[in-house]
Parts: sequence; C-alpha cells; structure tokens
Amino acid sequence: MNVEVGRIESKTPGKSYEDIIRGDSTPPAEVLLRRSNPPQSTDDIPFYRYTSPEFFELEMQKIWRKVWQFACRDEHVREPGDYYVYDIGRYSIVIVRQDDGGLKAYHNSCLHRGTKLKPSQSSGYSASIQCPYHGWTWNLDGTLNEVPCSWEFPHLDYEKNRLPEALVESWNGFIFINMDLNAVPLLEYLEVVPEHFAKWDFTNWYPYLHIQKELSCNWKTAQEAFMEAYHTPLVHPEMTHVVGDWNMQHDIFGDHVSRDLCALAVSSPTSKLGLTEQDLLDRSLLGDPEIVPAEKRVKVGDGETARIVMAREMRKTFKDTYSLDLSHLSDAEVIDSLKYNIFPNLFIYGGPGLPQIQQARPLGMDVNRCTLDVIVFRPVKPGEEPDPAQVVRITEANSYKDVPGVSAFMGDVLDQDTQILAWQHEGMLASEKGAETLARYQESRIRRVHETMDKYLSR
Ligand code: FES
Ligand SMILES: [Fe+2]
Repeated sequence: MNVEVGRIESKTPGKSYEDIIRGDSTPPAEVLLRRSNPPQSTDDIPFYRYTSPEFFELEMQKIWRKVWQFACRDEHVREPGDYYVYDIGRYSIVIVRQDDGGLKAYHNSCLHRGTKLKPSQSSGYSASIQCPYHGWTWNLDGTLNEVPCSWEFPHLDYEKNRLPEALVESWNGFIFINMDLNAVPLLEYLEVVPEHFAKWDFTNWYPYLHIQKELSCNWKTAQEAFMEAYHTPLVHPEMTHVVGDWNMQHDIFGDHVSRDLCALAVSSPTSKLGLTEQDLLDRSLLGDPEIVPAEKRVKVGDGETARIVMAREMRKTFKDTYSLDLSHLSDAEVIDSLKYNIFPNLFIYGGPGLPQIQQARPLGMDVNRCTLDVIVFRPVKPGEEPDPAQVVRITEANSYKDVPGVSAFMGDVLDQDTQILAWQHEGMLASEKGAETLARYQESRIRRVHETMDKYLSR
C-alpha cells in the first residue's frame, strides 16, 4: 500500500482559506484554524464498491445497521404521538414522540404478518400505532395494546410482542437513529462535531425547504460530489468567480468526521475575471447586478473587502428579520460554507451563512439508484412556531429551479452537480480501468469515507 508521510497540505497556488479569513474584520474563530489531514493510502479505489449488488448488501448489513444516521428534526415530532418514518435501503424506522417528551424509534414492521406500520416516507400524528392490515395496535411506548379477535391468539405473549426498538438521540435539533443497540452514544460517535458546533446553535431553526431528488447513481457517488471542489471550474464555471474552490481547506478529524471550509465572496485561483471587491459583493450578496439597480447596491468602503461588508449586512439582516444576534461569530462563520461530513452520509453546514444539510441514501435496494435530500433552515422568529417544510420529491428529469423557494444560483449549482452524476455512474459501469485515482488533498475526504467503511465491513 502506498502511504504518504506527514500531514498533507494543499499545494494550490494563491491564498489559502486561512490567509483569507485572517484578512477579515474579526479575528478568525479558533475552530476554523484547526487543520488536520493525515497521510493516507494513495491506492486506486475499485468501482465495484459503487456498482456491485454484493457490496451493496454488505453495506446494508455492516454499515447501515451499525451507524448513527440523521433521520429527522425535533420539529418533525414536536408533540406526543407525532411520528416520522426514516427509510434506508430495506430498513424502515418510525420515530415517535413519547408522552413524557422523550423519543423512541421502532422497526417499521408489524409483529403479526410484517406489514409496514406506517407508510415509508410518511409523517404525522397518531394516538397509538395501529397496523393497517388487521389492526394490531401498540401504545406509543411500544407495548402491545390490542389484538382483534384476541381469542385466536391464546399463544401470544403480549410482553414479548413489544415493538422492537432502535436507538434514537437528538443533538442540536437533529434526530439520529442507530439500529445497533450496542452502539456508542451519539455524542461520542460525532467526535469533534459537538465541540465545533458549540456556537452554531440550530435548535431554534426549522426546515423551510426540503427537496428530495432521485438520482441514477450509487449513494456514494452522489455524496462524493459534495466532498471536493476539484470539479468546480468545469461543472460550475460561474461559481469560481465568487467562491474559493481549489483552495478550499479539507480536514479529517476522525473515522466519522471531516469538513471543507470554503470562502465566499472571493474569487477562486481558477477565476480569470479579476473582479473588484465591489463586483464580488454585487455578485455574492445581491444576486444579478443587472437586476438590482446601482443605487440600491451596498457599497464597499475604503479599506474594506466584499467579505467584510457581506458579513456586516448578514448580521444586520439576521437582527432585523429574526432578532438573532450574530455578534459572537467571526465574519467567516457568518458568511462561509463550513461543510461537515458525518459518516456515512450526512453533510451539516456550520454557521448561519448556508444553514442546510444534504444527505444521500440508497433508493430501496438498488445499488445504481439513490436519493439526495437537501434541507434548508431558517431561524424561528420570536413567538412563532412554523411547521417544517413538506418534502418536495423530484425526479432526475426535474430541475431544482422548478421548486418554489429555490434561488436561481442554488438551483443551477444543484442541477449541475446532479446532472454529472448519472454520467459518472454510467462511466463507472463502462470502465476498463475499473477503479478511480483520487487527488491526494482535494479528494482526501472521499478516501477517508472508504477507509472507515472498510473498518465497519471488517467487523
Ligand atoms: S399484518 Fe399487521 S395486523 Fe396483520
Ligand atoms: Fe459541485
């Protein structure tokens, strides 16, 4: 096995992420200055990991049944009796809010003859959990309450027919489940994440937009498009002018957690436009400068950068609109893309600048299909309790831009990312080489996911 010695550093010319945030109006947050990119193998990664039904089945048994995975938000199950169904491959878990405010998670399969107790992907309220086939009914706490024609079942042990449970825990408003009853606690599994997110509180936020798109590729192929910006100049050429890409900072903190830190309102080293700070601000903050008249645009003052003005404007907007004080956050925490990957399939963005998550999941039991969930959050205004957004489900043929609430910029970027994935998956199937060769730094986090997968697969 080929392994590099020492910490891997970015060799992209131009400013590093750290150089950029040291030019902001506030001292950089200490947590953003931490860098960790340990040496790894440089061996190729075979494509059967993305295309083989046998490998997919191993993932089902040894990964999806063993890991903590994001299922829903606290807002989805606020009141006793509220439930939310989380599906992963063949498995399905119902999360139920209890009378005492706690949570329980049950395997979504009737103990009579197996019917799903709640439809996949559903959510709602029910005072008890009743199977839709013959009506066996469980209490919210999982105890068996009623069996129609009970005289038919003198052999049934009610106590033994409690609903089988999965582990369920909530952190920062995010509810995770784990089918392995011997798993480590969620906070331990999340490694550095709770510490890093100490100032990035999402408990008083709610999902205001939730899009789920079906894709013709393996779930890892979809996820990995969001773990590197090496593809940005070709796939998102317009982004390079206002977003750092090849000079992103990639960090690996443990088996389960890695991140990329991407500066906004700066041009990438790959941009040749030479934009002024005012140009950068106009494109970053106010959208299309053709549409917003010049007199309405915020001006970059002497000695300021687009980033400094953008952070200031964001703080003002959050204060005015949501009564949310962001003065405790550095400029970079307010505006940048701080994207954490939690093994195996979740991205959570830190800070209020891009408050969202993305999650790739196998679609049913098809190794060649997946879904990508994008959930965007907004702060809850004082005195309000908005309902979480309904899921908008779209197919591969749909554009994200057709979904109400998606900005043209976000829609374009997501369309571009998801369009390339079917081509990549087809190419994997057509490959003569049969493996991929990853970049040592910019694609290091993809490799880490595969290494962690191997640890789970060997257990
Ligand atoms: S299958 Fe559920 S009650 Fe019969
Ligand atoms: Fe992309």
